Amino acid sequence: MAEAAILGFLQNNESIPDSGKFAAELNLDHEEVKNVIKSLQGFRYIEAKELKRETLVLTDEGKKYAAEGSPEFHFFSAVPEEGSISKDDLEKKLDASVFKIGSTQAAKKKWVAMGKQVSRKVQHVEDKVKESLLLIQQGLELDQESLNSLKARKLIASQGWTGYSDVKKGPSYAPKRKIFATDLTRENLQNWKEMEFKEYNFNAKGQPLDAGHLHPLLKVRKQFKDIFCQMGFEEMPTNNFVESSFWNFDALFQPQQHPARDSHDTFFLKAPSTTRELPEDYVERVKQVHESGGYGSRGYNYDWKREEANKNLLRTHTTAVSSRMLYALAKGPFTPKKYFSIDRVFRNEAVDRTHLAEFHQIEGLICDRGLTLGDLIGVLQAFFSRLGMPKLRFKPAYNPYTEPSMEIFSYHEGLGKWVEIGNSGMFRPEMLQPMGLPDDVRVIAWGLSLERPTMILYGIDNIRDLFGHKVDLDLIKRNPICRVGIE
Ligand code: PHE
Repeated sequence: MAEAAILGFLQNNESIPDSGKFAAELNLDHEEVKNVIKSLQGFRYIEAKELKRETLVLTDEGKKYAAEGSPEFHFFSAVPEEGSISKDDLEKKLDASVFKIGSTQAAKKKWVAMGKQVSRKVQHVEDKVKESLLLIQQGLELDQESLNSLKARKLIASQGWTGYSDVKKGPSYAPKRKIFATDLTRENLQNWKEMEFKEYNFNAKGQPLDAGHLHPLLKVRKQFKDIFCQMGFEEMPTNNFVESSFWNFDALFQPQQHPARDSHDTFFLKAPSTTRELPEDYVERVKQVHESGGYGSRGYNYDWKREEANKNLLRTHTTAVSSRMLYALAKGPFTPKKYFSIDRVFRNEAVDRTHLAEFHQIEGLICDRGLTLGDLIGVLQAFFSRLGMPKLRFKPAYNPYTEPSMEIFSYHEGLGKWVEIGNSGMFRPEMLQPMGLPDDVRVIAWGLSLERPTMILYGIDNIRDLFGHKVDLDLIKRNPICRVGIE
């Protein structure tokens, strides 16, 4: 309807100066008129200029007074022409809000004398407020003083208004819009000679796909996985968060009094609180090596307790998985292996900007005859170079299960300093030989967190923005793909 009105009007007239007035005159919805103008303009049927102005509208209270009269007028009318009326009687006669607002306004305007008794000061008054409001409702002009007082009483408010001015014929003007076919249906194709088809818009964007998005940790994990695979590593099965203390600690030659085995550092399970089975003959050898050594070691010289080894926990490192894998490997005829894993571990830590009670560990290990510390340094160099971190330094460190052990530092070009990026070492004979691995077999291994490099790569400085319930979903939807440099 609006479209026919606009195109029809322009056939005989030069222009529509004001879309608002045009809509009002023809009794059309101005929103619809605006939409039609916008669309006709897009197809160049017409040209138009945007028009913005402030208009005044009545608030709900203003509308009420415009219809029923102002409270001061009602208040005044309730006071007798002669004599007076008590304030209490007036209050009973009038609506609470009419009494309250009306008495103040009527007194202010000196229409009435207010005391215990109320009487008129003038004989006749005009309801200016109502009249002014009616004028505004009709879109007519009003003096500034009245406007200010209505605004102060919150009876009117200004509102932004948009419309169009100078609506004229455009280069493709026609009194009626041509309908272009937009679909290649069977019928349209059969009548194609009589039809006009809408041109293809090759610049149009497709519908955004409502697809899933990968979390930054998953993207970085993929990069690490690719590097391990390129270097010939196999992935270890890490699909058990619950582990026994035996595989998490004892098999790794970690003594039972070690502070990491305290509930302040480790989450122990309540149910089931203990593991159901362990390989008995191997357990016996582990007990021996803890208590009195062997394989060239003097052991720790303490009473090793089975109950301690049976306790279930949330694994504190993926090295628990490595110990299971090496034990399994020791059962068959020896074959060299390169293994890796990337998965979640849990520690009972105070949560802050850089620590959570759970994180992901990346772990790599190589198991072969006659490996040396030189091999470890060489493989770390190859691995971290592929990540774009070729400058490495090593610092002697201590782990119960490795000797020697080395912390790994990398030179961070951005920060201009050396930062710790991981931990590494050669697994002890006290760990490998009770498993049954031949005594010339050495295992070199290293571990690092997935969160640290992810935070650096994505410029995130609070770990809670990366992992956990406070993560903003937009971060996951919008973050770019991840590439790490190969030197
Ligand atoms: N398990 C060690 C950690 O939790 C990492 C590590 C793995 C160290 C393998 C040496 C060898 O930090």
